[in-house]
Amino acid sequence: MRFKFLVLSLLPGLLAAQVKPVAARVDSVLALMTLQELVGQTNQYNGFWNATGPLPVGNDWVEQRVRALKQGGVGSVLNVAGVNQVRALQKVAIEETRLGIPLIFGLDVIHGYQTLTPIPLAEAASWDLEAIQNSARAAAREATADGINWTFAPMVDISRDPRWGRVMEGAGEDPYLGSRIAEARVRGFQGDDLSDPSTLAACLKHFAGYGFAVAGRDYHTTDYSAHTLYNWILPPFEAGVKAGAATVMNAFSAANGIPATGDSALVWGELRRRMGFTGVVVSDWGSMGEMIAHGYAADVRDAAHRALIAGCDIDMESDGYLRYGVELARRNPADSIRFREAARRILSLKFQLGLMDDPYRYCGASQPDVRTDAYEMAVKSSVLLKNSGVLPLASGLRVGLTGPFAAEKNGVLGNWRVSAKDQSAQSLAEAVAGTWTYAASSPHSVGQEAFHAELTLNQTDTRANDAAIKALRKHDVLVLAVGEHGYESGEGRSRASLRLSAVQQDLVRKALATGKSVVLVVYAGRPLVLEPWIQDGAAAILWAWQPGTLGGSALADVLTGRREAYGRLPMTFPRSEGQIPLSYDGYATGRPGPKPEVFWSHYTDEPNEPAFPFGFGLSYTSFAYRDLEVTPSPEGWSATVTVRNNGTRAGSDVVQLYVGRQGNGQLYPTKSLKGFKRVILEPGSEARVRLELPREALTQRDGQGRTVAFTRGTLTITVGPNSREGLTWTTTLNP
Ligand code: BGC
Repeated sequence: MRFKFLVLSLLPGLLAAQVKPVAARVDSVLALMTLQELVGQTNQYNGFWNATGPLPVGNDWVEQRVRALKQGGVGSVLNVAGVNQVRALQKVAIEETRLGIPLIFGLDVIHGYQTLTPIPLAEAASWDLEAIQNSARAAAREATADGINWTFAPMVDISRDPRWGRVMEGAGEDPYLGSRIAEARVRGFQGDDLSDPSTLAACLKHFAGYGFAVAGRDYHTTDYSAHTLYNWILPPFEAGVKAGAATVMNAFSAANGIPATGDSALVWGELRRRMGFTGVVVSDWGSMGEMIAHGYAADVRDAAHRALIAGCDIDMESDGYLRYGVELARRNPADSIRFREAARRILSLKFQLGLMDDPYRYCGASQPDVRTDAYEMAVKSSVLLKNSGVLPLASGLRVGLTGPFAAEKNGVLGNWRVSAKDQSAQSLAEAVAGTWTYAASSPHSVGQEAFHAELTLNQTDTRANDAAIKALRKHDVLVLAVGEHGYESGEGRSRASLRLSAVQQDLVRKALATGKSVVLVVYAGRPLVLEPWIQDGAAAILWAWQPGTLGGSALADVLTGRREAYGRLPMTFPRSEGQIPLSYDGYATGRPGPKPEVFWSHYTDEPNEPAFPFGFGLSYTSFAYRDLEVTPSPEGWSATVTVRNNGTRAGSDVVQLYVGRQGNGQLYPTKSLKGFKRVILEPGSEARVRLELPREALTQRDGQGRTVAFTRGTLTITVGPNSREGLTWTTTLNP
């Protein structure tokens, strides 16, 4: 007891020695720690009891965790939110453990905290890095004011498979766009100074390859080439590391016969050695223990040992390190050093977050109002995929609104909303109340709606569809809010069919049969497949994704033209599921076509082309591109193009630069995005838009991860409004 008092009174002095650099301060703490306490720092528990109340009686599980906490056996927690809870738990860590080392409080602040912004894939569709950074910043302000100091975001997994529900959490299929967005999100969450109590430590996840789950089934094993690893999967992690991300999370998945949590070559070889990452690596939830189910580890002790060797610093909810860490370290001096180094990294993070100086640092701010940020992001995320001219809706039109998502206040929030209230979104029907007529159609989700549970969908009952169409048939335009619920995408929410449900198809069919203009507003956490009769029949299609708390007014403003149609697709939209995996940047084949016989790379029952290409999105005005000029510079090439607003409204377009490379002795994607810039133009005006292509942007990694320069062969530069259209310029290097 006297020792504890002594340490407690000495520790603040040791810790608060501001003059000392963090490394020296960490050393002074490490010097005080027992092996058990070192191991304790590497253990992370999920919130285990209402820390503001008494301990539940007779609950062994909770008692074990509280005991562990008081013995210094917990270094960080997740899913403990709210200033009172955070304060109460932190108080136990500070006042009731021998050394009084504070906890870190982590949470999945993925697209907002209590005020939800659109899902990350939707934000990516804005192609607006400033807006994305600002959105992450707003989430950080809200979450930190509630005691949180670490977010498990951004997810930077590249994926070409919209069956995989977690595409909603990423930035889509492209490594260049994904890298820029990874940087923007890290900067937004972390700001310039991690100890600023309005910033969160970021976590790049899931390292690595999780987005390549076989057949798009979540948690499935993955299968990708070394080329894919180096040129698609790793670049956004590298960009996030360079932007200063404090932490990285292991993936659930396995590749090349090794689960990612046990993969030394990935963590030590790629992340730490090649990318120079010095921060904390955290397992995914139970991913250490899951190495047993993978068939890789024999038992929890073995799994803990393998994860430790593979550079996993924090065990999230496998209880492997806490149960076996001391034993492992006693048996093998190398493991003891590993635990010490892991604890060193974790303590450094605690210093950087300012927690060692003030453990209650994140418990003092008042809740900021970030609704404007959420609204802005929702406006900028929606993508106009088709418009026969009906949009923006003219003010004199009589507009009828229906569809299962029109009055929806829950499913439109998105999947990751641990801290937002259920039913807290403003619906589209609310936003247009008094102006448009709303009629309820048949519901989509008809049972419990929870993060962990399967949804029950209405499969057959179309009665309300008839009533809705009957009520609205005299209107000039029918706006149909259709799609999928926020709990149909996200973790554990893979889909084999990406079509609208039969009940929704029934509604679309009946709406089209009225002969009125039908506008589809599609709420979805991924690209869906709209059959040709739907695409052709609709007068306009606006992809709303899951737009979050302020989606209603944001979408109403876009539909009525108070705001412009702004977004561009960050993922290719397939025509049918059979085309998946699909991306714009595949390799060329040895059998391109079309050819008169069957012997070329194609389907016999579906074109190769997607429904909508990567980068695509319409505006309420139209743009023409001309006069592409490319000039070499010592650093690379400058591409300049004239973009003219040919329409009658002001608007903006995202000018995109793609390269093709051929003949350098390695395969390159037929097209790769290497730059983009938004240009804003008044009607009838034009601008010369310049994009730089640095020489290094042409490099690619080979199967061993070595950088190969592009020195010889044909270089094609295409500049245009999406990955399918554009003006091209070609040169041959060192012929
Ligand atoms: C997810 C992670 C998440 C973690 C903590 C896991 O199931 O895969 O992305 O950060 O849970 O909630």
